[in-house]
Amino acid sequence: MNNNVDKAWFVNDRFGMFIHWGLYSLPARHEWVKNREEIPDEKYDIYFRHFDPDLFDPELWAKTAKQAGMRYAVITTKHHEGFCLWDSQYTDYKATNTPAKRDLIREFVDAFRAQGLKIGFYYSLLDWHHPDFTIDSYHPLRNHPEREKLNKTRDMKKYTEYLHNQIRELLTNYGRIDIIWCDFSYPTEYPGRPDGFIGKGRQDWQSEKLIKLIRSLQPHILINNRLDMPDDWDFLTPEQIDVPNDITVDGKSVVWEACHTFSGSWGYHRDESSWKSSCMIIRMLIDIVSKNGNLLLNVGPTARGEFDFRVMERMKDIGDWMKKHSRSIYGCKKAPDGFESPENCRITFNPETNRLYIHIFAWPFRFLRFQGFEDRVEYAQLLNDGSEIPVIKINNPSRLKMTGTGIKEDETKKINCFILPVQKPDVSVPVIEVFLKK
Ligand code: GLC
Repeated sequence: MNNNVDKAWFVNDRFGMFIHWGLYSLPARHEWVKNREEIPDEKYDIYFRHFDPDLFDPELWAKTAKQAGMRYAVITTKHHEGFCLWDSQYTDYKATNTPAKRDLIREFVDAFRAQGLKIGFYYSLLDWHHPDFTIDSYHPLRNHPEREKLNKTRDMKKYTEYLHNQIRELLTNYGRIDIIWCDFSYPTEYPGRPDGFIGKGRQDWQSEKLIKLIRSLQPHILINNRLDMPDDWDFLTPEQIDVPNDITVDGKSVVWEACHTFSGSWGYHRDESSWKSSCMIIRMLIDIVSKNGNLLLNVGPTARGEFDFRVMERMKDIGDWMKKHSRSIYGCKKAPDGFESPENCRITFNPETNRLYIHIFAWPFRFLRFQGFEDRVEYAQLLNDGSEIPVIKINNPSRLKMTGTGIKEDETKKINCFILPVQKPDVSVPVIEVFLKK
């Protein structure tokens, strides 16, 4: 872990946009299509010749991200297919040589920066197009009958030099870059790998040298944990999983960012039907922040350069919620020890303002019981409209006894309660903002 670099902005902002865009947007059936269908270069080239994002409007992308409450964005400068969205001097396999005819990363950077969003570059360590990248177990040519022979003419050292040169280029020509997101390592000796698996890791990427280079060019940059350097990274990157609790290393909380898709694949997938609802995504964001994490939510723009309607609908809903509730996200973290989350809720806490946020996932009838911070409540309100939420002590229903004349109360067993309106406020996830006593 690199503890010297300032991560304050990152843990404050909590919510970013991931963008997976490349030639795989044309087949529109997963960004690993070249691997999955074992497509050779000659055939995959058809997408290069037809990459024409005539509707690409980076300003609209940036405004959409901002309106949804995202504070930073990480874009695939190159994915595993090897295609570069920027005008790299080290390859011809780049956007400037397609019908797009321009440096799309330059336009992305300018537009997102203009909206005040921080900039991250994703860079694929794998490269299924580079002639020196050796054919391993993930390579589209892995079943080629002459694989061994082909590998004899490939020189990983040359590829590694290319990789370092490209990272240098990306971190030199585009001004301040806040995050570098290298993806990914799959060392052969990793436990659980099938027999005969051939992978790549830190020796192949020369990760130590690469990290030095990155930090020399952009000393403030945050580096993710996928360079196969167990002790040198700034944040962890759990992918498409429900993280059960805040993540600790040697008993200490560490910085982490969960990445999630809308529908399962990262690149534009036309026919996928597993789209998460807006409400599910809002809950994921809340849940992650309640465990000290960030959410990097992925968008896979179409081949014509747009966010499709399913993305736009959800981004609008997320933005509507964030407009009223971002106070429970920005600057917030896991609640202090001893603060128990009420039933069916998630709690976040802002240490600066000393406010607690109770996100109600299932709206109960009238009473929301709580404990662990009963002596700390100064005032409470619904966050969506600022209306007061009274706090009372009531009898703990589990202690109530039904009698012939009604309910007999046991005065000694009172419990604290927020009194809620019967009707759930008309927002995806209602939040109670609690002002705590010092
Ligand atoms: C995986 C996949 C890749 C995706 C990435 C995002 O490593 O290889 O397609 O870009 O996850 O986290």
